[in-house]
Amino acid sequence: MTRAISLYDVTKTYTRGVRVVDRLSLDIRPGEFLVLLGPSGCGKSTVLRMIAGLEEITEGRLLLDGEEAGELLPSERNMAMVFQNFALYPNMTGRGNIGFPLRVENPGEDPRPRVDATARMLGIEDLLDRFPSQLSGGERQRVAMGRAIARHPSAFLMDEPLSNLDAKLRNHLRAEIAALTRELGVTTVYVTHDQSEAMSLGDRVAVLRGGVLQQVGTPRAVYALPRNVFVAAFIGTPRINLLRGLVRAPLDGAMTISLGKQFLRLPEPLSLDHQLLRVQQGREVIVGLRSEAVRIAKHSSARPGEVPLTGLVEHVEFQGHEVLVHFNTGSQPAVVPDLEAPRPGRQSRRRRGGTSVLGRLKDRAEALRAGPVVVLDDEESRDTQPAPAPAEPRLPGDLVVRTTPDIDLRRGLQVPLLVDIAHLFVFDRHGERICPSPSRLPDLDG
Ligand SMILES: Nc1ncnc2c1ncn2[C@@H]1O[C@H](COP(=O)(O)OP(=O)(O)OP(=O)(O)O)[C@@H](O)[C@H]1O
Ligand SMILES: [Mg+2]
Repeated sequence: MTRAISLYDVTKTYTRGVRVVDRLSLDIRPGEFLVLLGPSGCGKSTVLRMIAGLEEITEGRLLLDGEEAGELLPSERNMAMVFQNFALYPNMTGRGNIGFPLRVENPGEDPRPRVDATARMLGIEDLLDRFPSQLSGGERQRVAMGRAIARHPSAFLMDEPLSNLDAKLRNHLRAEIAALTRELGVTTVYVTHDQSEAMSLGDRVAVLRGGVLQQVGTPRAVYALPRNVFVAAFIGTPRINLLRGLVRAPLDGAMTISLGKQFLRLPEPLSLDHQLLRVQQGREVIVGLRSEAVRIAKHSSARPGEVPLTGLVEHVEFQGHEVLVHFNTGSQPAVVPDLEAPRPGRQSRRRRGGTSVLGRLKDRAEALRAGPVVVLDDEESRDTQPAPAPAEPRLPGDLVVRTTPDIDLRRGLQVPLLVDIAHLFVFDRHGERICPSPSRLPDLDG
């Protein structure tokens, strides 16, 4: 009874012609768990509501199991929606809440057997006689899940169902939802702005920005081969290090990427991927290094494929099982618009629209419309160093490296680092990936 959900060029326009969802195409397979991921306001809930039939599709088509469904009433779609704020009826017990949709759909039928079976499945038999006010947040969300499941829907649509819960409970329920939906085999579209939730739950993750689909793929694929700098920055903790670089070919012929005060010398002979950088000579690029692509080389020398850098320890972040070390390498962080909660010290220093509120709003509107991520300044920067670092101190550094807790590092130490070149990302000045080669596309549909 589970169904395929397909969107073709689906667009949603509210008043004044702003496209909050822009030509979105997605094929969701029967039984698949697809996560819609993106920052606040990018259109996730709107997409979900259009699938549910709660919101009209302005342009484009929605197909359910290959049949046109854009005009179907919500009740004809047989989908169950679970919201962030549980939305239980306060004057009904757990049993009443779970049984309510069943009573509406089949007035002549006794809902009790199905309610009991659902409660057993969720382990909430003891909650059935309590009212919502007598339940904790997690228990309420379980009852809400029960209400969705009892109907035997053909799809689950979940809109940030866990975001009102504390971190521990969220992790716990996350695992429960994953297990439950797999067991039921029901197609699920799950909306979140939490990338770790998306990565741990989804068969595939679809990343939205400003109503535009950036990439869809397995969690592994979007992490390993992000199509652009926005996806690279949105997925993964700690956030990928993004540095402004300049591709150069010095006299001895080796290809290097200047990072301001230091440079990365690409190993010879150049890999096929790095040969793609030849056409970028003299141009600004964005270098992406995940925290595991750099290691501290205190007592060991470089392995093949590793190149040196030096970092000044700015801040040591103890996490228990690991330590995040924030280094200053004298490079400049690249700015990615639209990301939620930018890391401290990573804001744009000079925005095209200036620093006025109006200028910033203009920038934002422009960035949203632009589609591709505009990251670097517009001026041509042939064979010049990236612009000098801003005068204000940048804390906590420009490069975060993940290491084991046994290492003893203090602020102010100068430390040799090794960059694993196999894990180097290079994006062009508009944020599109150059290395690894864009032709190495992740399995977009599987
Ligand atoms: N009824 C409406 N009229 C006009 N604009 C709307 C309406 N509903 C939503 N929007 C706008 O559409 C955009 C997308 O909204 P949506 O609720 O889909 O975002 P979201 O990705 O779910 O965000 P969040 O993570 O904050 O829930 C937002 O800019 C929002 O202001
Ligand atoms: Mg929303």
